Amino acid sequence: MSIREEIEAAKLAGDFITIEGGVPLRGEITVRGAKNFVSKAMVASLLASKKGETVSVLRNVPKIRDVEVVSKLLELHGAKVDVDVEKGQVTIDVGHLSQPEIADVDTLAGSSRIPILFCGPLLHRLGEAFIPSLGGCNIGGRPLDFHFDALRQFGATIEKTKGGVKISAPNGLKGVKIKLPYPSVGATEQILLTAVLAKGKTELKNAAIEPEIMDEIDVLQKMGAIISVDTDRVIHIEGVEELKGYNHFSLPDRIEAGSWACAALSTKGDVFIKGAQQSDMSTFLNMFRKIGGEFDIKDDGIRFYYSPDNRSHSIALETAVHPGFMTDWQQPFVVALTQVEGLSIVHETVYENRLGFTEALNLMGAQIQLYKECLGSKACRFAERNFEHSAAIVGPTKLQGAEILVPDLRGGFSYLIAALTAEGKSTVYGISLIDRGYEMFRDKLTALGANFK
Ligand code: EPU
Repeated sequence: MSIREEIEAAKLAGDFITIEGGVPLRGEITVRGAKNFVSKAMVASLLASKKGETVSVLRNVPKIRDVEVVSKLLELHGAKVDVDVEKGQVTIDVGHLSQPEIADVDTLAGSSRIPILFCGPLLHRLGEAFIPSLGGCNIGGRPLDFHFDALRQFGATIEKTKGGVKISAPNGLKGVKIKLPYPSVGATEQILLTAVLAKGKTELKNAAIEPEIMDEIDVLQKMGAIISVDTDRVIHIEGVEELKGYNHFSLPDRIEAGSWACAALSTKGDVFIKGAQQSDMSTFLNMFRKIGGEFDIKDDGIRFYYSPDNRSHSIALETAVHPGFMTDWQQPFVVALTQVEGLSIVHETVYENRLGFTEALNLMGAQIQLYKECLGSKACRFAERNFEHSAAIVGPTKLQGAEILVPDLRGGFSYLIAALTAEGKSTVYGISLIDRGYEMFRDKLTALGANFK
């Protein structure tokens, strides 16, 4: 479908929001558990087979689409899932699992990236698994080679089929020594979820160490796993015989918090984000301060605001794996940079194709130029690969309202920020995609005084 056709389809489906921009966002909102943790903790619950201790309870769970998708997939495998939306609590009992109909699993194809993490737990519990084709944002090729290479080393057999992948482990799974070519978040989680019940020891080098992964390790430890994290991205896992259910309060969503912080600054507003935590956002906070943003850190959250006394300063930033500046903050931050004085540089080093969303910002009046070269202190994996993965942003620019189509989750929220910052009316189409990762964003816009329909 062309962009025009997609806009027409979204119009027909009522899947759009009309925003009258130029109103500073002011007020308080709450951020709950991290999208990129809760869904994985739900998958981990599958590993609990200890008699009488197969129930897991996850708290601080947001109402987002990924939770629905994972709940459905768990239920298809026989798990009992109870989601209490108001309380933000999910209870999962995996006492009686069974193989689902492939056709039923197939109905979830294309809806999320999380199903790939079911491989290890299902191999342990049911001996084989069918994983539907994955969804997720189109921000690069997003291959799965690290996942499959690791699973094969553990002893799994992988067969690609028309609708997905069939995986089995006729001789069981055995601990291995693995070095990831790149500290992939998903592949690290895949290896953790497989190694905890594999026979023997696993050593994982060049692992991702994002806070969401550390929280997953905490969950696995509560379940009875033995995992130690060394310096230099090395994780050791000693396989155990069986695991039990857990009770855990999720860490907050630092991507959502950073996104609303960018909205506060870009609209020259003042927003208290209840639940936001300094510890996992320090890299973001440094950059926010450098470009003229103000923040006050409280015990129960962080206030982000614009101060007319601060001069904004342009910056050069590179996205990176933790503890670097998250790629998921990049898109909202770029919108904030359109309001910053001078020439800012952004070098996206995690995904090869996460700057395409800037085209619509330019239509709104931004001045953003993309480059295939690495505009950073060092060359990244995409240096010789012909991808526009660096951006030069000249600011401040007055943005004008426009009709725009959500390209991906974070790009979609960035378009909301642009529309809220712009003069006049904007219509943002395809906003249902934003529900995948931003809990009740319409209610939050209302709480912050945005002018929208
Ligand atoms: N990669 C490979 N092969 C693999 C796996 C990854 O080449 O087998 C490459 C990817 O193509 C990418 C890089 O490694 O260039 C990093 O990918 P990673 O595996 O770390 O990403 P992911 O696990 O698929 C998660 C988050 C993303 C977030 C990244 C990086 C979830 C569901 N998704 O993705 O979140 O950007 O880690 O932190 O946890 C988002 O929330 O909007 C989002 C895209």
